[in-house]
Amino acid sequence: MKILLTGANGFLGYYLSDLLTNAGLDLLATSRGDCRLPFLSKGNFNYLPLDFTEEKSVDTVVESYAPDFIIHAGAMGKPDDCELHPELADLINVEGTRFLLSAARRVNAHFCYISTDFVFDGKEGNYKESAVRSSVNHYGLTKLRAEELVEAAALSWSIVRTVLVYGRPMTGRSNLLSIVQEKLSTGESYQVVDDQIRTPTYVGDLALGIFQLITQARTGIYHLCGQEVLTPYQMALQAAAYLSLDPSLVVRTDTASFKQAAQRPLRTGLNIEKARRELGFLPLTFQQGLLRTFGPR
Ligand SMILES: NC(=O)c1ccc[n+]([C@@H]2O[C@H](COP(=O)([O-])OP(=O)(O)OC[C@H]3O[C@@H](n4cnc5c(N)ncnc54)[C@H](OP(=O)(O)O)[C@@H]3O)[C@@H](O)[C@H]2O)c1
Repeated sequence: MKILLTGANGFLGYYLSDLLTNAGLDLLATSRGDCRLPFLSKGNFNYLPLDFTEEKSVDTVVESYAPDFIIHAGAMGKPDDCELHPELADLINVEGTRFLLSAARRVNAHFCYISTDFVFDGKEGNYKESAVRSSVNHYGLTKLRAEELVEAAALSWSIVRTVLVYGRPMTGRSNLLSIVQEKLSTGESYQVVDDQIRTPTYVGDLALGIFQLITQARTGIYHLCGQEVLTPYQMALQAAAYLSLDPSLVVRTDTASFKQAAQRPLRTGLNIEKARRELGFLPLTFQQGLLRTFGPR
């Protein structure tokens, strides 16, 4: 089975590349720029730089590799960046997906799109796969529009939505837990909101769920996230306690007082019953996730 992955240098990309190649699958990892992954010695791992906003390059790479699966994990993923640079966000998150879809169709590849809880407005929480989408920020809107492109494409597809991913950042961007560790261990305080509801996701669980989905040849939408409902503040406090760092440096705030360029949905969190039932997806508890992220105490 041949898999082409976008966003391979990213946070999820590292864990997915490791898992897929360890499972013996042939992987063409792609990302912007040079390879930042330490897997070049694995015989079934190959890397090509590919900016998926360049349609011709997408066509050339996809047609010459002719993958069975494309996992599209690359994105402009920071909501505030998307709000401040909406045209660039449209190009990367929407047009890039369109180019990849059209190449996937030509080689008859299954297309797995990695999406987000931010396609929802945050009024309900505990969203099922069939819930009505409506985003409160530009990042969510671009992901929603990309989902619509995927659903309308004449090919086999799946959409994975996930939530506030945490874990040890290997090559990709930092995340809430790595920021807590970094700031608190140098005595710096960290302001975190306590009125946004999430189901935080351990990055290894997300990679495993995607692996289950593609190896079981599932199609349609799946929610893959953690099993516990927590606010970012609660996550940060638990992380501080786990690391024996000063909890008073975690400063509780709320959405109204914490100014960010992009509005955040208040209550998200995704319902994972379908993934549990159909894929056998069984994510870690948050405490188990802390152990995987930081190692034993
Ligand atoms: N992290 C979360 O909490 C979270 C939550 C919900 C959904 N998601 C979704 O999960 C997926 C993976 O997220 P992540 O956390 O792994 O993000 P990430 O660490 O920011 O990785 C995204 C990768 O995409 C690459 N990329 C961006 N534009 C590109 C382009 N035009 N051509 C090629 N590569 C490009 C980036 O390359 P550079 O490194 O060179 O910039 C980066 O390595 C994304 O679709 C994101 O929307 C993430």
